[in-house]
This record gives sequence, structure tokens and C-alpha cells, in this order.
Amino acid sequence: MAGRIPKSFIDDVLDKTDIVELIDQRVQLKKAGRNYQACCPFHNEKTPSFSVSPEKQFYYCFGCGATGNAITFVMEYDRLEFVDAIEDLAHNLGMDVPREAQEQPQRQWSHDLYELMSRAAVFYQQQLRKPGHERAIEYLKNRGLSGEIAKDFKLGFVPDEWHSLSQLFGQQPSMNKALVDCGLLIQKENNHYDRFRDRIMFPIRDRRGRVIAFGGRVLDKGEPKYLNSPETEIFHKGQELYGLYEVRQANRKVEWITVVEGYMDVVSLAQFGIRNAVATLGTATSSAHIHQLFRVCPKIIFCFDGDRAGRDAALRALNQSLNHIRDNREIRFMFLPDGEDPDTQVRKIGADAFSQQLQKAPTLFEFLFEHLKSQVDLNTFEGPGKLANIAKPFVNQIEDPIHRERFLASLSKDVGLSEQKLTQLLDEHQPQTPAPAPAAQKASSMSQLTPVRKIIKVLLHKGSYVETIDDYDWLPKSRVAGKDLLYQMLEILRNNPHMSTGALIEHWRGTQYEPHLNKLINDTPVIPIEEMAQEIPAIMVKLKEETLVQRREELVARDRTGPPLTPEERKELRSLY
Ligand code: UTP
Ligand code: MN
Repeated sequence: MAGRIPKSFIDDVLDKTDIVELIDQRVQLKKAGRNYQACCPFHNEKTPSFSVSPEKQFYYCFGCGATGNAITFVMEYDRLEFVDAIEDLAHNLGMDVPREAQEQPQRQWSHDLYELMSRAAVFYQQQLRKPGHERAIEYLKNRGLSGEIAKDFKLGFVPDEWHSLSQLFGQQPSMNKALVDCGLLIQKENNHYDRFRDRIMFPIRDRRGRVIAFGGRVLDKGEPKYLNSPETEIFHKGQELYGLYEVRQANRKVEWITVVEGYMDVVSLAQFGIRNAVATLGTATSSAHIHQLFRVCPKIIFCFDGDRAGRDAALRALNQSLNHIRDNREIRFMFLPDGEDPDTQVRKIGADAFSQQLQKAPTLFEFLFEHLKSQVDLNTFEGPGKLANIAKPFVNQIEDPIHRERFLASLSKDVGLSEQKLTQLLDEHQPQTPAPAPAAQKASSMSQLTPVRKIIKVLLHKGSYVETIDDYDWLPKSRVAGKDLLYQMLEILRNNPHMSTGALIEHWRGTQYEPHLNKLINDTPVIPIEEMAQEIPAIMVKLKEETLVQRREELVARDRTGPPLTPEERKELRSLY
């Protein structure tokens, strides 16, 4: 195996490549203002929504969300693997790709986490059929599941033992470590034991069908009802959808997907022939989820409980959906009767009726109108103004101009105001200062920039702002979210402040940060970047103060309770007063 390509070489390739020239050789670009435009090569369209920024060395499609730097473009357009894409770009520049000397493999036996998960899944499946484990099969039967469905979803069982997995994997220290890394074992001091015991096992597969995590359900009563794998190198909960791989396997062409809450709902719908369901993994629907779903099909139907919690979850999903609205896409919201979930409901009314209800569920805009109107009395004098006010954060998130326009048109009809008047009202409610959005709009992506994200966004757009930040050695000690990312970014930019957005973001390819960074780059800023940059010094001063106070409290507490402070820590503590 060849060694790794040095990061500095990748920086260099991206620095020397011009993304406009690169893309223009494959897709004809037209200049439009500061950027270049074309019809998107990654989806079908007649009017151009694909935009390339020479300044940022980055592309973005408003239509399908495709985005990235020169490497990403070559990977996606020419369908190349990462390393081949770099070889290709380097070749164009007449450069040879250097390789780092072979390092020690990260894991002593270089256990591949995917492989371990896959072997575990097979093992759990086998356990289902073992004598003595009949109650597991009984349980699945009682829940109405056939052997065929159990097989399609690779359902399994793990017996009530602390060391089932050691039968399969042995007890080598390096193996134990790898199993801890993939969340199958728990380590306590020097002991290891199985995380999952006496549970029905639901393997969670990624887009390519690889098992990346498990959900385990108790057979009888017990807490928690579902135990999930922790976040690992290969499992990022907020981005995965249970059942998506299975949906794609079962349908040649996926016409629509319904998003439900539970593992059992997905499997049970499949049992009834509705092989179109996916579930979030005990988390709220994220923008990344919606993005993934629209890559697979044009129609998403969210299916929620009819209770208060279901409405709240629906509103959160709605908030994440608004900037994904485009022509030829459809989003609907279905609410189940109180006390039912898709599993019980499909058993009660059958697959046909259930499917029909899904297809007839209110559209996103119908749901949004109903939500807005339920909060205002339009017959009062203040009604229309108030409605405009609460509608505003939603309107602002609709990126697609046509849908924004259409939404405003129907809203004005409903409110009984001219569109002009309505637009005026919406503008009047523009906050005077760019104050943070009200708590109710937590999920709103654009207005919810935390101070750290603001700095990151500014640096992504223009790395040279790093020069306004010279004091940040304290950052690793801070407890603020995003500090590690910010610190890494500052360190990279300090060496090369004129790096383009495209080259900068390359440092986080394939990490958990990548989708967030793409979003920070592509979301239109509420206030201009230059203005946002003005806030940086004040933000840094405030963060530093907070950090130092926390650090002081930490050291003072340690001084009282032990373990004793080192001489350096003592010195540090004195300096903190
Ligand atoms: P529910 O409690 O609604 O269970 O959790 P369910 O899906 O109806 O399950 P059954 O029908 O009793 O088997 C819905 C989802 O919330 C997450 C799981 O993803 C579950 O599928 N959850 C729930 C957990 O992660 N942990 C729990 O303890 C409970
Ligand atoms: Mn249920």
C-alpha cells in the first residue's frame, strides 16, 4: 500500500488549480457578476443554478445542493476516488504526487471497523436461530414480522451474556480496543464487556450497505427500550437514516420516502409492503437528512404522532426543510391519530389506506399556513401585522426565489393584504440590529450563528481575516462548542492566510465537520461578511474571558479536592488573578 499524500501537497494542488478553468473544460460556464454559471451537471435543469466562485475556488448548486472544491468536482464529475482525483489534478499541473513514508498502521492489526460490524451483524443473526433463544423468534413473530423481512433487515439477537462477542472475536487487547472503538464493547478500567445484551438487534447500514451501528430493543420491559451504538469513527447519528439502504434495495426507482420515528415502524411498514420508510435515529430531522433524501427521490412525507411532541417535531423538520424547497420537489406532513404510530396504524387500517393517507397529507405550505394561522386572530386589527411577524423567519429561510414569491402571494391572499403591503410589513419587522433570532426559531439555520460559527464563517469566506486574531493560545482550554474546529482553522490559516475557501475546506473532507462547513459557506449571510468580521475582536475577548474564568474555577476546585496541582498549574493559577 502506498503512503499517504501529504496535506501540504494537496494544499499546493488546490492553490495552483483554477476551478473555473477546470469546470469550464467540462461544462460551459458563463460569467454572471463575480461568479460563473451553468446548468448543473449533477441534476437535470433548464435554467442555470450551478455557480462557481473564482474567489472562493468553490462551486455550489442552488438546485440540488451539490457543492465542493476542485477535488470534489473531479471526484463527482469524472467519478474518481479521492486519490485518483488528486493524481488527475496533479497530472494537469505537471506535478508528481509524493507519498509520505509508510507510517505504522493506526491499529496494530489494522482492524477494519466496517468489517467488525459486519461480522457482528452476521453473528447476531445466527444467534436468532440458536436453541435456547426461541423467545427472540417468538418476539418477532408476535410483532407480526416474517422471516423474509427479518432477513431483509438483517435482524438479529444478542443473548443475555456479558461476553457473547468474545466467542466470535477472541480477547486480544488490540481486538478489544477495536471493538470499543466501534461501540460494541464497553471498557471499564481494564475490563471489557458487551454493550448490547439480551436485545433484538437492528443493524443500521450506510448508503453503501455497510453496517455502521446497531439499535437494540429489549424483548420485555426494561430500560432503555432502545439502546443505540454511540457515535464512532464510522457512525454519525445526525446524518444517518435507518432503512434508507433497504428502501433503495427494495425499489428500482424510489418515488417517495416517508420519514417515521422508530426502527419498528420502518420494519413493520415493510412487512405490509410499504418499503418506503426510513427513521431518524432518535434525533430530530436534520438538514443533512433532507439533503440525503432528496438525492434519492423527489418526495418526502414526514409522518409524526398527532400529539404535542409530534407537532413540535414536525415544526423542527419544517424549519430544516424550507431551504430545500425547489421545483419538482414535494414535502408533506402527515399526523397520525393520537396514540398511534405507523406500526400500529398500518395494522389497524391496512397498507392501502395508510399509503393513501400519506399521499394526501398536507403539503409543507399547507402545514405552515395552518401553523401560522393557529397563532393569530386575523379578524383583529393587529392580526395581519402579527402574522407577517411570525411568518418572517420562515419566509427568510426559503431560498428558492420562485417559491418565496408564491408563498408570499398565497399568504397575502390569506391575510387579505396586497403583496406590496405584506412585503412592507415583513420589512418593517426586520430587527434593527442583527439580534439573534428568537428561541422559538432555534433550528433556523441562517440567523442562528453562534459567535464561534460567525468567526468560522468569516474565515471560510476570507482567510486573511486570520490576521485580526493574534491571541488564541487559550482556545483549546475553552469549553465553547466548535473551539477545536476554530483552533485548527486558525492554525492552518496562520501559515497561509491567502488560502482559498476551496483549499481550506479540504482539510476536513470526510470528517463530521464537512457538512456544517459546506453550509456555512453556502448559506447566504444575513449580514455582509465584512460587517460580521468587525465583530471578531469583541467575540474573541469575550470567549477568552469566559475561558480564563472557567479555568481558574477548575484549578481552584482541583486545588481543594486534588489531585494536587503541578508547579506549572500553580503558576498558571497565579497568573489568572
Ligand atoms: P418509541 O418509544 O416510540 O418506540 O421510540 P417504537 O418505535 O414505537 O418502538 P416499539 O414499537 O415499542 O418497538 C421511537 C424511536 O426513538 C428512539 C428509537 O430510535 C426508536 O425507534 N428511542 C426510543 C431510543 O433511541 N431509545 C429509547 O429508549 C426509546
Ligand atoms: Mn411502536
